[in-house]
Amino acid sequence: RLGLQTRTLGTMIHYEESVLSTQRIAHTLASDGAEEGTLVIADEQTAGRGRLMREWHSSKGTGIWMSLILKPHLPPQKAPQFTLIAAVAVVQAIEEVTGLHPQIKWPNDILINGKKVTGILTELQAESDKINSIIIGIGMNVNQTKDHFPDEIQKIATSLSIEEGRTLSRSVIVQRLLERIEALYSLYMKEGFTPIKLLWESYAISIGKKIRARTINGTIEGRALGITDEGVLKIEDSGGTIHQIYSADIEVNV
Ligand code: BTN
Repeated sequence: RLGLQTRTLGTMIHYEESVLSTQRIAHTLASDGAEEGTLVIADEQTAGRGRLMREWHSSKGTGIWMSLILKPHLPPQKAPQFTLIAAVAVVQAIEEVTGLHPQIKWPNDILINGKKVTGILTELQAESDKINSIIIGIGMNVNQTKDHFPDEIQKIATSLSIEEGRTLSRSVIVQRLLERIEALYSLYMKEGFTPIKLLWESYAISIGKKIRARTINGTIEGRALGITDEGVLKIEDSGGTIHQIYSADIEVNV
């Protein structure tokens, strides 16, 4: 906790050298009654998970592999908003520590110069109408060189040090990140989603642009209008119909 200026986030820190996935550990801790703000962080993940059951490369000593447990008194439908809270916090923390200006690609990718630097995976433990725990998994590429990424990943991924041209302190970034999440979380609990949504939209890559969204129900092309108060993406197709996208992979500028 050295230098960490938060009230509740990161008061309990589980640091591990090597784990399968911090997300799995956080799920277990949350089921066992871990308190709000509990952080699981590891130097290496051997089975890191991304969205849609994809693999997440988490090489030793290079990035930030962490899962944060929150316990807001909210209905489960609000959980996706936490991905957007985390995304704004990631952008702000990176801007505080580097000269870089990351952008957000809905729903959970943080890009620098068009390449992914951070992914966010928000998962939920809930009873029928109330959240027990939200587990926010954040994977940030910090000190990787190109060689750390497998060939097929090099084209689409980058790290802060590749973009900034120097090595960065992971612990300083984690501190700034927890401080930003705490500030935005408290803003959200006081004033609702609107201020978060405005911040998110100011960093978003896709708003106003032509995009293609691949969903499980098929592909939709059109102009991204923005997000709803639930964090759902709105796309207007060429016929003027507005579609609400809950989950998809998107391509920008098609
Ligand atoms: C994505 O972009 O698909 C989300 C990636 C989330 C990766 C992080 S790393 C820490 C936490 N533990 C995991 O296994 N996944 C998340």
